[in-house]
Amino acid sequence: MKKLASSLLAIISLITFTACTAPEALQTSVLSPDQSIKVEVFTSESGEFGYKVSKGDITVVDKSYISFDFKDMPALGSNLSIETIDITKSSEEWEMPWGEQRVVKNEYNQLYATLKEKADPGRTFNVVFKVYDDGLGFRYEFPAQDGMNEVVILDENTSFNLSGDHIVWWIPGDWDIYEHLYNNTNFSNINAIAKRDHPNLAQTTIPENAVNTPVTMKTEEGLYLSFHEANLTNYSGMTLKVDTVNLNMVSELVGSRDASKVKTQVPFNTPWRTIQIAERAGDLVESNLIVNLNEPNKLGDVSWFKPMKYMGIWWEMHMNKSSWDLASGKHGATTENAKRYIDFAAKNNIKGLLVEGWNTGWERWIGFPDREGVFDFVTPYEDYDIQEVVRYGKENGVDLIMHHETSAAPRTYDQQMDTAYQLMHSLDIHSVKTGYVGPIIPDGEYHHGQWMVNHYRRALETAAKYNIAINAHEPIKGTGIRRTYPNAISREGLRGQEFNAWSIEGGNPPNHLPNVVFTRMLAGPIDFTPGIFDIKFSKYKDKNQVNTTLAQQLALYVVLYSPIQMAADFPENYEGQPAFQFIREVGVDWEQSKVLDGEPGEFAVIAREERDTKSWFVGGISDESGMTYNLNLDFLEDGITYEASIYKDGEDAHWDDNPLSISIESSTFKKGDKLELVMAPGGGFAISLIPQK
Ligand code: NOJ
Ligand code: CA
Repeated sequence: MKKLASSLLAIISLITFTACTAPEALQTSVLSPDQSIKVEVFTSESGEFGYKVSKGDITVVDKSYISFDFKDMPALGSNLSIETIDITKSSEEWEMPWGEQRVVKNEYNQLYATLKEKADPGRTFNVVFKVYDDGLGFRYEFPAQDGMNEVVILDENTSFNLSGDHIVWWIPGDWDIYEHLYNNTNFSNINAIAKRDHPNLAQTTIPENAVNTPVTMKTEEGLYLSFHEANLTNYSGMTLKVDTVNLNMVSELVGSRDASKVKTQVPFNTPWRTIQIAERAGDLVESNLIVNLNEPNKLGDVSWFKPMKYMGIWWEMHMNKSSWDLASGKHGATTENAKRYIDFAAKNNIKGLLVEGWNTGWERWIGFPDREGVFDFVTPYEDYDIQEVVRYGKENGVDLIMHHETSAAPRTYDQQMDTAYQLMHSLDIHSVKTGYVGPIIPDGEYHHGQWMVNHYRRALETAAKYNIAINAHEPIKGTGIRRTYPNAISREGLRGQEFNAWSIEGGNPPNHLPNVVFTRMLAGPIDFTPGIFDIKFSKYKDKNQVNTTLAQQLALYVVLYSPIQMAADFPENYEGQPAFQFIREVGVDWEQSKVLDGEPGEFAVIAREERDTKSWFVGGISDESGMTYNLNLDFLEDGITYEASIYKDGEDAHWDDNPLSISIESSTFKKGDKLELVMAPGGGFAISLIPQK
């Protein structure tokens, strides 16, 4: 990654305050670079540290306080004085090795407050706010100091005092999984407890009425807010406990087998607690706040990984056409089957093949409490010749994507990581999809707790040594770590396409993805696995289907961002389909991205310019109501004529009644041209715009 520029522009002021007894006498504030967002900090009469956030005249987060509960140490949060406040300004640009855009602007004003307890034990810590034009992040920094060494955090109590009973798009604060449907209620009606024990979740722990982040809200004034965290490192994931009466949220960290939340030692920093603030829902998606609050690339040259489309011996298992294990007698991962996929991929501009079920152990995958040592990550089943598949792939320009299902036995995976990655290295395989299905072993640890956060990070760091990138399923949420570790290429961490194959609701409802765009996608790349063409798949299942039209399946390649995008269906379902041309053609790596319009849970229209080609791709998706969208091509480059292919819902298209009805048209367009597009219920459109030669 090349750093374009990095400069601290100016230290505009350095203000030092001394403690004062009058309540809130120490109040001070910082504005965003464009002056639209203001953060005020203060102490209360009892010496609690507080903050308040506003945008223009609107209070976004009202006076809110913070505190920590520790093991074997008094709580920290009252009797504090603000010792110093430094306000500085910073502006830089940095480049993503692959991403939604090439160049990212990172411009903010920082307020750095040092705090000290006025009486014994006189501990000190700092609260740092970085205020951007599109929101803010703040974190706590605990310096080395006498009387504090090993620290066990029992609770971090960061509160977010909301200014109204906002409309909220939320999933429950599950400590083990994010694969829930989004709910849309007023804040006062959030009921996460009602979401316990979903029968399709192999692990789920919802201890209280809390939500997971990112959580998106809309205020009465029409502002869109998202609460999340950035740079989750050596700490537990944060859920937000909701107080539906006082309209307040308090951080609730994920627990562990000994009931502590975080074990660490000074000096340490917490992750950033983030609040994105936007006038348009689309601006939340365009925001780079989360990646900006992470450290620059630590891995250096990562050109060994290339963004790509991929296929997989995968959907056939979810369809029960074949199986992961060998004993069933219908094993999917055979040498012959892999070659069949490679043949199709090679002819169709698809550069990767994922093969699940290639290694021994799948006979004891789900439903066995003792899963340590079951999988190894180097021994193929007898009907899968991995060397031969890799050779055949190379000959045809298709790289293998490795698969490591850990069955949530991370200690087994830890023991084998080096061996497993060495095998990949020796086969010149540069990416792996990992999986963590099931309750974590040992009992009492959770997917989103500090112990697992550190495991997922260890996998990234170890993989990087072997030039390997990771696409984690059942992961920890994205918190912008991909800036520091670009080999964190993608992840699941949402209810993906697979739920259409087997969920009790019959699949994901049509509003699922319009929800995902404005919630989960704020955390970064999504391995959703789009592109199912046999939408009803009645040959395999009668109670499930994909609840979108075919045109929407195409749109997802643009709407959902990931540097790896699966063409998830079987080769035979793509063969002879004119609509497949869009998947052949669509880019996976972007110069720039624009969210043209959208509303959470209703619709989203996104345009992306491919790197190096000047081609644009546009995708639109709608919920179960459908809508007419007037597309204005004013983002195109002046002076270029574009050859366009337009894939849109047929007149009678409908996600349930007629999902395959599609109309494909060609045309030429220039900057500023306009186009009326009718999105069917559960429908969408996809457009490629290729500069004329
Ligand atoms: C869950 C993953 O999300 C899915 O994609 C995969 O096929 C199974 N685990 C098996 O690893
Ligand atoms: Ca999953």
